[in-house]
Amino acid sequence: MSGPNKVAFAFDIDGVLVNGKNPIAGARETLRYLQDHGIPFIFLTNSGGVTEKVNLEKLASRLGDITFDEAQIVQSHTPFRALVDDYKDKTVLVLGGHGDNIRQVANEYGFRKVVTSSDLMMQDEHVHPFPEMTKAHHEEFGRKGDDTQPLRIAAIMVWSSPRDWCLDLQVTLDLLLSSKGIVNTRSDKNNNPALANKGFLQDEQPKLFFCNPDFEWSTKHENPRLAQGGFREALLGIWHHATKGACELEYTTCGKPTRTTYEYGERALKDLIAADPALDGANVTTVFMIGDNPESDIAGANTFKNLGSYHWRSILVETGVYRAGTIPTQTPDQTVKDVIEAVEWALNSPE
Ligand code: G3P
Ligand code: MG
Repeated sequence: MSGPNKVAFAFDIDGVLVNGKNPIAGARETLRYLQDHGIPFIFLTNSGGVTEKVNLEKLASRLGDITFDEAQIVQSHTPFRALVDDYKDKTVLVLGGHGDNIRQVANEYGFRKVVTSSDLMMQDEHVHPFPEMTKAHHEEFGRKGDDTQPLRIAAIMVWSSPRDWCLDLQVTLDLLLSSKGIVNTRSDKNNNPALANKGFLQDEQPKLFFCNPDFEWSTKHENPRLAQGGFREALLGIWHHATKGACELEYTTCGKPTRTTYEYGERALKDLIAADPALDGANVTTVFMIGDNPESDIAGANTFKNLGSYHWRSILVETGVYRAGTIPTQTPDQTVKDVIEAVEWALNSPE
């Protein structure tokens, strides 16, 4: 691999470099080539559930015999760091992930008052209508907290794919229908025809944040699996039914393909280049986004193409969500077999 262009790369992880725990052939060699030649790259991923450092260590151990710098990754929930100032002294409900991981990541980001849906179940086991299959998990990781004071939730943040959809959909719906985000209340404004949006979301209910719009993602299974976007669609359906269509659910999302995440990616690349004189990044003009999901990686890079200070281009690979021979829902600049071919094409393509 060699070529004339001054370029940088943004790699998707799942479906480009690994599928589940399995490395994709050629991924490590491709990244090593870029490292050896001082070509800058970052990872722009909708995965998460752990700190940036842990996610990179996990990737390095799956690829084997390679190391990365913590500054090289933007995860789905990395932009949640910008919410810390607003919420560090308020209570936030965090959803997604397994065990106590998300509470720990949220604490590490700087959120001080963090509760999980397991905690809500420990406060009132009847919050979960069907606890049989997941009760042991919630008992292991839930914390009872101070049940003498009303618990007021200021924000609901979905950090990763929820594992117990039944519980998480239920507690989210409860809070969106609550008075002021106070657990176990119902707003008396709901369903009031005299109010805007028939009274729904008119009573200081918590703000809702997602970080990964992906409906599906690539794993070791032969067909893509539901991701965080699937949970969001389920919630939207439930919300539509609960409000009889009177009120659109308000939420904010980051993660690919949102502009927020591509802006984070561009900043990460610039910081990386500025911090490492060994990187041949001074004249980089073009960033190639290499991804497997047309609606995530390709859509985001195509939209961001002329919005950032680099020129973004998109390359679709056939090792993940996208299936060879089908027509992708978003058109990339190039479609190739895998990550090796993607980097070869990028290094030899004209500006
Ligand atoms: O949407 C699930 C997430 O794991 C996908 O990760 O690396 O393909 O953006 P990635
Ligand atoms: Mg992917």
